[in-house]
Formats: sequence, structure tokens, C-alpha cells
Amino acid sequence: MEPIRWRVEEFASIDSTNTWLAARAAAGEPEGLVARADFQTAGRGRLDRRWESPSSSSLLSSILLRPKVLDSERYLVSVAVSLAARAALVRLSGVRPMLKWPNDLVVGHAKLGGLLAEAVKSPDVDLAVVVGIGINLTWSGPNGDASTCIKDIAGVTLQPRAVLDLLLEELENRLAALYQSRGDELRDELRGALSTLGQHVHVEGPTQSIDGVALDIDERGRLQVQTSREVVSIDVGDITHLRVVEGQSP
Ligand code: BTN
Repeated sequence: MEPIRWRVEEFASIDSTNTWLAARAAAGEPEGLVARADFQTAGRGRLDRRWESPSSSSLLSSILLRPKVLDSERYLVSVAVSLAARAALVRLSGVRPMLKWPNDLVVGHAKLGGLLAEAVKSPDVDLAVVVGIGINLTWSGPNGDASTCIKDIAGVTLQPRAVLDLLLEELENRLAALYQSRGDELRDELRGALSTLGQHVHVEGPTQSIDGVALDIDERGRLQVQTSREVVSIDVGDITHLRVVEGQSP
């Protein structure tokens, strides 16, 4: 695989790095363009939520990729970004966040960061995926104990750009692994990083809510949940970890 030529554009303030980068992707921009902002006036989270943070307190960034993978493997692009973020944070701060399915970075039960991946189609070029990432560095978020930041956990103040540079280095390795081994290595790394597996979960989906034990992820990245009656595959949704089930590793 040719190394990706990362081109980072930095903004003091922007509406949303995802929105800006999606417009560039729609106009045919090659992969490797990255947006980073100190502040967003209209930051977006998953499930149509807002994503807000004070200036310079977080990594707020979006990465444009044109991954040559099957549709069924596209979820692994977000997985590669969240695992790369985790690896970068370990190297810079010693903090090793776990992943809460599908893509949240968590420490214990507190959210440290999240991903918003959006597909952008434009004529005559490979499908683009814009992966936005927000990581709380010096501000622990609006949700009390439900969210946290690197400074509160490790006492260190990380610079957003330093985290981004290392994240891109770690991402390059994982994308190479994805293209060479069809995602097996990434799936293994994901299983080791997912705190969701083995937990009793409540899943709030668009059409149904389910309670059960998270067993595994399948080859399309869906969460397999054992309910009292059957194993259900969850595509999208918001999950709550309820408690660790005895005898299973979290
Ligand atoms: C989530 O809901 O957990 C995902 C949050 C993603 C936030 C990031 S911040 C940078 C990028 N730009 C956005 O508008 N959203 C993403």
C-alpha cells in the first residue's frame, strides 16, 4: 500500500470538521485530507446529537479516507480510527481506554471520546468515508461522572495536534493491516479492546430496545446479544453497560 499523504488543515473555529470535510470529499478531494479545529460552533455527535466543548480542550478532528474494502468491511475503517486513537493515547499519557460498542472510547463507565463516521458519494471517485473524532483532553464533558478527560485521569495536558499526529501514524499501520489481511488482525485487536463483550447490556435501537448479554461482534461489526430467547444482531443503537456477568471477561 502506498503511504497515505496526510494533509492537516487547522482552524481556530469552524462549524463542524465533519461538515467541512464532507463538502471537500463530495467535490472529489483525494484521501488523506484531515481537518482539526480548536472550537466547533455546530459539532455533531452520533444519533443526531450535538458535540460541544470549550476551545482547545479536546481533539476535534475529521479524517477523509477512500478505503478499498467491501461494503461489509467498511465498519473496520471506524474501528481502525478508534484503535489508533487508543494506541496514541497509551503512548502519550499511559491511559488505555477501552471501546464501548460501536466506537466510544471509555475509561471505566465514563466516556472519553467518540466517533462519527459518514459516507460521502461523489461521481467518478471511490466512496469517501469521513471519520470524525472527538477526545476530551482537558475538559471532562458536560455529563458529570458519565464523562471524563485525559487530564483528570492521568494529570497530563496533551496538545490536540500531538494526539492527532500520533493517531495518524497508528492509523496508517492499521489500514495497511486491513488491506493486507482482510481485517482479521483488526477484528482481533477490536475484541481485545471492547469492554462491551461479556457485559449485560440494554440496547436502545431506532425501532426496538433489547436486554441481554453482549456475546461478540460478527463479521459485519454487528453486536451479537443473547436475550432470554435468542441471539439478536444489533446494527446501530445506543447501549448501556449494566453490569459484568460473572464468569465472563468484560
Ligand atoms: C459521538 O457521538 O460520540 C461522536 C462524536 C464525534 C465528535 C467529533 S468532533 C470532530 C468531528 N466533527 C463533528 O462535528 N463531530 C466529530
